[in-house]
Amino acid sequence: MKLLHVDASPRTGMSNSRALSAYFVEQVRERVPDLSVDYLDLAVDIPPHVTESFAIATYTPADRRSPEMMAALAYSDAMCTRLLDADALLFAMPMHNWSMPSTFKAFVDGIVRTDITYKITADGQYVGVLGGKKVLFLTTRGADLRPGSPFADMDALTPALRAAFGFIGVREPLFVDAQPVQFADPDARAEALDRARAELVSVARLWAGSVG
Ligand SMILES: Cc1cc2nc3c(=O)[nH]c(=O)nc-3n(C[C@H](O)[C@H](O)[C@H](O)COP(=O)(O)O)c2cc1C
Repeated sequence: MKLLHVDASPRTGMSNSRALSAYFVEQVRERVPDLSVDYLDLAVDIPPHVTESFAIATYTPADRRSPEMMAALAYSDAMCTRLLDADALLFAMPMHNWSMPSTFKAFVDGIVRTDITYKITADGQYVGVLGGKKVLFLTTRGADLRPGSPFADMDALTPALRAAFGFIGVREPLFVDAQPVQFADPDARAEALDRARAELVSVARLWAGSVG
């Protein structure tokens, strides 16, 4: 199994999402001996924002692109290749202002590409190409957004991830949301991390069970 592991937290040593994603990869590795991991750290390899050149180039047919247009698409092309090469995708990120961190949004803007990650059929249908991949979103939230909490209606992260990745063909992504890991007492934080680790073990078992 080839896994693309993406971390998006701007924090390094103190990061909850990085610690949990590393834990998950260990759990998969124990169960899938031939696991290979392509690691992408969005705090190091920071995706560029969409520029005017990018916006023009991405909708220009590939055979009509100038060298400048190709340069504007270079990062995005490389990210699409890494995405398409993987059998399984792990995206780990903190919630920032109720949605995804801006680096991850820039990454998403780079991987939603006509004729690469989605196609438009002759009769005008949009068809995503990532359908066969296992996908896990691992999110960490300072607050508790579970049903019943005062913040329960504030989750703009899960629907945004579902929409963008659904468009490129991801049908049944899995979500493990660690919450509350900051704005809560120490016991509640520890419980949230324990719950997330238990869920990650279940996903690792599931992925290992569906491998060869
Ligand atoms: C800029 C910023 C914005 C944040 N916004 C939210 C938020 O909207 N809701 C929330 O529950 N937590 C929010 N948090 C808290 C983080 O989601 C939380 O601490 C998470 O564990 C961070 O993950 P990390 O340790 O991997 O960076 C925010 C943190 C930062 C730094």
